[in-house]
Amino acid sequence: MDASTIDIEKLVRVIPDYPKTGIIFRDVTTLFADADGLRVTIEAMAAPFRDAGIDLIVGVDARGFIIGGAMGMAMGKGFVPIRKRGKLPPEVYREEYTLEYGTSEVEINVNAVPKGARVLLVDDLIATGGTAMAAVKLVERVGGTVAAASFTIDLPDIGGSKLLRAQGVEVFSVLSYP
Ligand code: PRP
Ligand code: ADE
Repeated sequence: MDASTIDIEKLVRVIPDYPKTGIIFRDVTTLFADADGLRVTIEAMAAPFRDAGIDLIVGVDARGFIIGGAMGMAMGKGFVPIRKRGKLPPEVYREEYTLEYGTSEVEINVNAVPKGARVLLVDDLIATGGTAMAAVKLVERVGGTVAAASFTIDLPDIGGSKLLRAQGVEVFSVLSYP
């Protein structure tokens, strides 16, 4: 089965007013629980970047980890985690950021990325881009470059993907909800 024969969008559960009133929550756990949904989504996220000279996949805690390991396997690359505060052993760099429904802090190990590495950033969703921009800053602080970013879902009207492109990052998403 390929992307043209499976309706990925139908597998994403939509929950209004979660976790806060006014947020339309797009739940990818139902998509990834489906074997074809998982495989087709990962293939689609990897395809545009197979010849992009990517050295390493980086993903953000926690939903970005579901995707990150699978993307590493699909592209024959290693995976490096950016984790929420307090989960990685020292030494780490930290960034605080705002996302669609709150604030958070993420960390990366200071030696996690080889100097000059071209990174593909992956996550399930981009909304404000707060999380992705924090990840870009952390990758740059450890000496790498986020060459491109691949998301399952983009919410373009919230502006994150535009923000990321303005930083020179190529942005791809499988699904987009205006
Ligand atoms: C979600 C999602 C992205 C981020 C996108 O993560 O997985 O990482 O929000 O929002 P933004 O573009 O406005 O920053 P969340 O912080 O809810 O954590 P989780 O993966 O642990 O559920
Ligand atoms: N992370 C940020 N905004 C989100 C949304 N609308 N649905 C799921 N995850 C999100």
